Amino acid sequence: MATSTIFKRSIHSGVVKITAPRLRGRGVGDIRACFPSTSTLHQQTTSTTKIKHFSTTQPTAKMSTSFLETVKSRRTIYQLSKSSPISDAKIQEIISQAILHVPSSFNSQSTRIVLLVKEEHDKLWEITKEILKAIVPADGWAATEGRLNGFKAAYGTVLFFEHRPTVSSMQEKFALYADKFPGWATQSDAMHQFTIWTALEAEGLGANLQHYNPLIDQKVQETWAIEKDWELNAQLVFGKPEGGPMEKDFMGVEGERFKVFGV
Ligand SMILES: Cc1cc2nc3c(=O)[nH]c(=O)nc-3n(C[C@H](O)[C@H](O)[C@H](O)COP(=O)(O)O)c2cc1C
Repeated sequence: MATSTIFKRSIHSGVVKITAPRLRGRGVGDIRACFPSTSTLHQQTTSTTKIKHFSTTQPTAKMSTSFLETVKSRRTIYQLSKSSPISDAKIQEIISQAILHVPSSFNSQSTRIVLLVKEEHDKLWEITKEILKAIVPADGWAATEGRLNGFKAAYGTVLFFEHRPTVSSMQEKFALYADKFPGWATQSDAMHQFTIWTALEAEGLGANLQHYNPLIDQKVQETWAIEKDWELNAQLVFGKPEGGPMEKDFMGVEGERFKVFGV
């Protein structure tokens, strides 16, 4: 399965260094100070090795500008075709790096990802068509089928999941925040989506984000032997861009969506 390949690459990529986990408390009032070590947490959910990334690059103002340019370049692209300007290995590397470095609440690492390319990607969209055909009214089917064929015409899909046992274990350990953990897991999942979407577009791919869950969850689990406690959250369709993004309206920023005090 694609995930096992990704896991091996993340361990052998040479970008990460194996080291003991380290957590820093920030004073008596900091809940992190009483947070169990990541090793305790992960003994229950996964057997992965603890790793620590070291960056020798100092961030600069120029880097933040180019980062924001990259953020600006990410758009929703629906017209996609079945090729990729980058190798499958590079796509896996992007996803592995996102999995390693995107943050999660208490470093709970609740996001799970499956990469489907080529025939496996086609299979996903055939499954989705089959499921939707059974429920979409006949007079609306042509439009739905056209839309789904559009996704199938792309090169690959990244599936994003939330690992329910990780969320439950956090809720048990930190009862005070129990109601927060599902939302935090979704926020972290969304950060993975944004990071991978942006990185793929920076490499010359186009992408769009879809949500056919929970309709397709069971078939996805069966087809790729996905653990039942991985909850599907989103599908990022990607491929060679064959068209541009749609026009986009922007609300006002200063004063409307952004307030500043004390500058
Ligand atoms: C949380 C979230 C959910 C979205 N769900 C869908 C979706 O189900 N289908 C779709 O075509 N686009 C979806 N989108 C894409 C948005 O419609 C799109 O990002 C937005 O219109 C801004 O356009 P842009 O991506 O080109 O900047 C979603 C985006 C976000 C952030």
